[in-house]
Amino acid sequence: MSAPALPSLSIDADRLIRRIEELGRIGRGDDGKLTRLAASDADKAGRDRLVEWMHGAGLELRCDRVGNLFGVWRDGASADVAPILVGSHIDTVIDAGVYDGCYGVLAGLEAIETLRASGFKPARPIAVAAFTNEEGVRFAPDMLGSLVYAGGLAIEDALATIGTDGAALGAELQRIGYAGADEPGFLRPHAYVELHIEQGPVLDREGVAVGAVENVQGISWRRVAIDGVANHAGTTPMTMRRDAGLAAARVIAYLRDHVAGSNAPSVATVGCIAFEPNAINVIPSRATFTVDMRDPDERRLQAMEAALADFLDRLAAAEGVSIAVERLARFEPVAFDPRIVELVEDAARRRGLASKRMASGAGHDAQMMARICPAAMIFVPSVGGVSHNPNEFTRDSDLVAGANVLLDVVTRLAG
Ligand code: HGY
Ligand code: MN
Ligand code: MN
Repeated sequence: MSAPALPSLSIDADRLIRRIEELGRIGRGDDGKLTRLAASDADKAGRDRLVEWMHGAGLELRCDRVGNLFGVWRDGASADVAPILVGSHIDTVIDAGVYDGCYGVLAGLEAIETLRASGFKPARPIAVAAFTNEEGVRFAPDMLGSLVYAGGLAIEDALATIGTDGAALGAELQRIGYAGADEPGFLRPHAYVELHIEQGPVLDREGVAVGAVENVQGISWRRVAIDGVANHAGTTPMTMRRDAGLAAARVIAYLRDHVAGSNAPSVATVGCIAFEPNAINVIPSRATFTVDMRDPDERRLQAMEAALADFLDRLAAAEGVSIAVERLARFEPVAFDPRIVELVEDAARRRGLASKRMASGAGHDAQMMARICPAAMIFVPSVGGVSHNPNEFTRDSDLVAGANVLLDVVTRLAG
């Protein structure tokens, strides 16, 4: 049986691009850098603008206790019918690009507005979500809002989470006016589809317009604290040092050598580091840094964690330092729903767009939503594979094509 003919609808390209650009201007510092960390004043400003757009689209606005924001279009569909949910996040990393997360939220809103204006009558409500703290830069773990939504983290524990600046998430959500009333999980989606820039080099390198994402790799985040002994940089012989800074450097080098040496697709990153007392002529007494390890294979990821633990034990003995490790996030690889992946491929084909099945190297809210409903993702190319960088760029034509594929997939799911 052939699939129902899809409406020859297309999203309002100018409106989508205009909103991406406008949201991308919210949260820029005097230095012009875009940073909208979760539950910050900049995040509030971005949320406020999104609420205005959702309100202007005639959507029912909802906010849950961990600040996840929803715009719901019911149009007669009864309240007890599970909705189709689209969305992503609008919090950013530090000195961010304008597409990561925001594109998926705004394209989701665009799909709803386009369907609504076309007179389409959905058999199911359609909702668009902006999840709290997807990036995990200020509060760990990442994908915190969708993790709570999917029941993977207790709401009280999430609200008590202390950020890198010492603030508690719950108090910050109260402060910015986004400590909502709804219980996380209040909308039980029939399906979840997330449109996102690839943030990697594959689609751009191969000249493919659409990624039909089949899975997301596993993530392991740790904070490592190495304690040595402060001493005089000039008088302390090299053989008498218990240098926390040197030990940290050995860990960074180990991760590169260990991971680069394996022929697996594993990756490892030390993104944050701080020394104490952080003085030019004092041997560091303490080094604190984060370790981000990822692999599409759970067993290999566990082996990476075990190998790192073993290396740290040997390093502590060799350098006369003590090492403490705190787990910040740990998510196993996730496979998406093959039926929705096929819908993505079919929608791309009908639009004359090449598509490619692929894995996601980045973490996404979809990997949490897959715990509670069939979920999948649509990728569009990132030029040069650059992301988490102000030079992140996706061509307008690719943004519009991806949004139209989302529109078609949502139409099929809500039809
Ligand atoms: O870290 C990630 O993969 C995502 O950007 N939060
Ligand atoms: Mn993202
Ligand atoms: Mn990101």
